Amino acid sequence: MKSNYKLIQIKPLIGPHGAEIGGVNLQDEISDAIFAEIHQAFLQYKVIVFRDQNIDYQQHINFGKRFGKLFIHPYVSSINNYPEIIRLLKEPNDTINNGGALHFDLTFLKQPPKASILRLIDVPKNGGDTMFSCMYAAYDALSESMKKYLDGLRGLHTSAKLFGPTGYYSHNMSKNSTAIKLNEMDFITTHPLVRTNPETGKKGLFVNSGYVERIMDIPIKEGNHILEFLYHHCAQSEFSTRVRWKKDTITMWDNRSAMHYALNDYQGQRREGIRVSIEGDRPY
Ligand code: SIN
Repeated sequence: MKSNYKLIQIKPLIGPHGAEIGGVNLQDEISDAIFAEIHQAFLQYKVIVFRDQNIDYQQHINFGKRFGKLFIHPYVSSINNYPEIIRLLKEPNDTINNGGALHFDLTFLKQPPKASILRLIDVPKNGGDTMFSCMYAAYDALSESMKKYLDGLRGLHTSAKLFGPTGYYSHNMSKNSTAIKLNEMDFITTHPLVRTNPETGKKGLFVNSGYVERIMDIPIKEGNHILEFLYHHCAQSEFSTRVRWKKDTITMWDNRSAMHYALNDYQGQRREGIRVSIEGDRPY
């Protein structure tokens, strides 16, 4: 098969999406030609992995900015002097991690981030993989009748279940070392259940149990059954790929078409990651 990649090496991961990218050093300024291939790989594979990238915060920011304006997290404090960077930290005695369920990031916002770039700087000896599920594949696997049923329906997304004054984190702040700042403000918005990726034109499911409260304009009970079905459907192993981290592995994911799940299977060990995200647009 003819490869479109001439300047970077691509090693697809096992599963429906994801690739490791070789031949790139993110400490260097990346040429436009190399960036164009990385961008193409990001759109094609949705989850791209770079190994052995011992970059500093500014280099991390510089790489993120090649994809667009960087995003400021509304609920996690940034690292001093770097408003765009957050630290995801689980200490050995913490019992909960961040992102420990299949989700898209921050879909309670009108314009959720389009992508995140995470570098792990402390990796458990065993466990701590991240699972990425391909929402194009999940959508394609639905029956035509179900696709027609979902067409035009919207989900109500809210930050309240996780970050609200009585939400999950309000009861669990002492069990995790990430600098989460709860405030009185909830975000609430609606998005289509099926989203088109504006850069590829492909459709994927766009639901996640952490943020979706209900389906709009249909009876709540009916909507809840549909949501339960969709959550089970999206979680099928056939749609997923796992990234095994090493120190200084960087993984970038397309938050419009891939859900992720940070596995919390490394109790007693430390895991620390540094993340930037890129602003996204209004889902349609
Ligand atoms: C997240 O962004 O949800 C966490 C991902 C990870 O730590 O692997």
